[in-house]
Formats: sequence, structure tokens, C-alpha cells
Amino acid sequence: MAQLIGGLASSHIPAIGGAIHKGLQAESYWAPFFAGYPPVQKWLGEQKPDVMVIFYNDHGLNFFLDKMPTFAVGAAAQYDNADEGWGIPTLPPFKGELDLSWHLINHLVAKDFDIVTCQEMLVDHACTLPLKLFWPEGEAPVTIVPININTVQFPLPSAKRVYALGKAVGEAIAAWDSNKKVAVLASGGLSHQLDGERAGFINKDFDLQFMDSLVSNPEWATQFSSLDLVEKTGTQGVELLMWLAMRAALSVAGPRVKDVHRNYHIPISNTATGLMVFQVG
Ligand code: DHB
Ligand code: FE
Repeated sequence: MAQLIGGLASSHIPAIGGAIHKGLQAESYWAPFFAGYPPVQKWLGEQKPDVMVIFYNDHGLNFFLDKMPTFAVGAAAQYDNADEGWGIPTLPPFKGELDLSWHLINHLVAKDFDIVTCQEMLVDHACTLPLKLFWPEGEAPVTIVPININTVQFPLPSAKRVYALGKAVGEAIAAWDSNKKVAVLASGGLSHQLDGERAGFINKDFDLQFMDSLVSNPEWATQFSSLDLVEKTGTQGVELLMWLAMRAALSVAGPRVKDVHRNYHIPISNTATGLMVFQVG
């Protein structure tokens, strides 16, 4: 059976792509953010995952407001990266892990999740930037399965439903007939609001409480409705639902899940940036 080795969570602000492109990592504005990543790069170098299952939210690139799936799972042999308007350089295509995609899709549908399957899927900054932060030199040495969770247009899935989805994904990975090592990535958050009267809103207290909860009581955030989460984290802060899905996927490993690294820095652009790594075993 496949080995679920751990989970990672990272913010995905487009400006990070610009900073990498311009080589600004050591500048005072960026240094506290980029300083979080070398321990993650080291961890990945030791753990050597073969496959990354990526919970992320598309931002109008692959799904626009006219057709908005709540949950969509990639089932493509290749995922091309494109930029939906931030002006950041794109990365070469990512190779898909087709066998795991279909295994996940079959498992999720059998568990009554009405997902959209995507045999073609463009991926945006949310899918690609964490991979670039994890493997800054060259291409990421993993195949991927992107799973899109709508946090862009209401109605959003509840935290409770997202936790259930994550748990089902974890069960499917653990039951995948393969000798590959799989890590789960959550891309998004933490608190931020890009528009409206509360543009610039950040909630450090809630972010830190949420990060702690993923260690001590992973289901804590399922008590909140989508609107509660918007109120507490901002209209785009609800991206933290990806973190909940990732942690739920790891819950199949029970008490063997240990948090091994974290970073939190405010702000990059309009966002409170968070980074966490969980190891199984
Ligand atoms: C920003 C944050 C995001 O999550 C995103 O998708 C786009 C922009 C920002 O803070 O600039
Ligand atoms: Fe985003």
C-alpha cells in the first residue's frame, strides 16, 4: 500500500512569484517569510515524497464564476500552469499521478462526494507557488493530484464538509495499491481580505489559534460556518479550509501525526502568511 508520509500547508500569494523571479528573498520585507522554507526543503529532501496531493482553490483561471464546482479532482496526465492576471512567470507543466487520481475519484464517489472530475485542468499560483517554495532549484520532483475546493464564490462548502472530504482523501491514499510515498499539501490562507470595506483585514489571534488546533484538536474549526470563517479570517482567509482538509487527510494516521515545523509572518501583500509541516510516524 502507498505510504502517507505527512502534510504541508503554505500561503500562496502571487507576489511571492514576483519576488522569486526578481531574487528579492533576502530583502528585509521578504526575509522573514522566506526564512520559513529551508527547514521544509530539508524535510522534503529527507522524506522524498513521490506524489503530492494538493488541496487548493482556483482563482478564476480554470473555473470561472459561471461554472463553479464545490469540489473538483484532477485526473490529467499533465497540468499546465497559467497566470490569471498577476503577471507572474509561469512554471513548466506538472506531471499528474493518474492512477491515484482515479483511485481517489472512485473512492470519493463511493463515499457520496459529488465531485467534478477534470481530465484537463489548468493550475494557477495556488497550486504552483508552494511547490516552487519547497523546491526552489529546478522542477518539483513529484507527480501531483490537484483537488480544488471552492472558496471563491458563495455558497462555500462548510468546514465540516471539507473535513469529511479530507478524511476520505486520506483513507483513499492509505488504501492506494502502490509503493509510492504520498504527501498532502494545503495551499492558501491564512487570514486575508483583498476587497471591500475590510480590505487588509488580518486576524493574528485566530490564525494562531487555528494553527494550534491542527495539532491539539484537528476538528476544532469544524464548529464554524462559512460565514463565521469569513468574519474571523476575511473573504479570502477562508482559504484556510485547505489546511483543514490536509489535516483531516492525515487523521487516518491517528496519534502518529507530529507537527515538525511552522512559521507565521504578517503581512506579505495583504495576507498573514502561515507555514506548517506535519510528519506521520
Ligand atoms: C493575495 C493573496 C491570495 O491568496 C491570492 O490568491 C491573491 C493575492 C494577496 O495578498 O495579494
Ligand atoms: Fe488565494
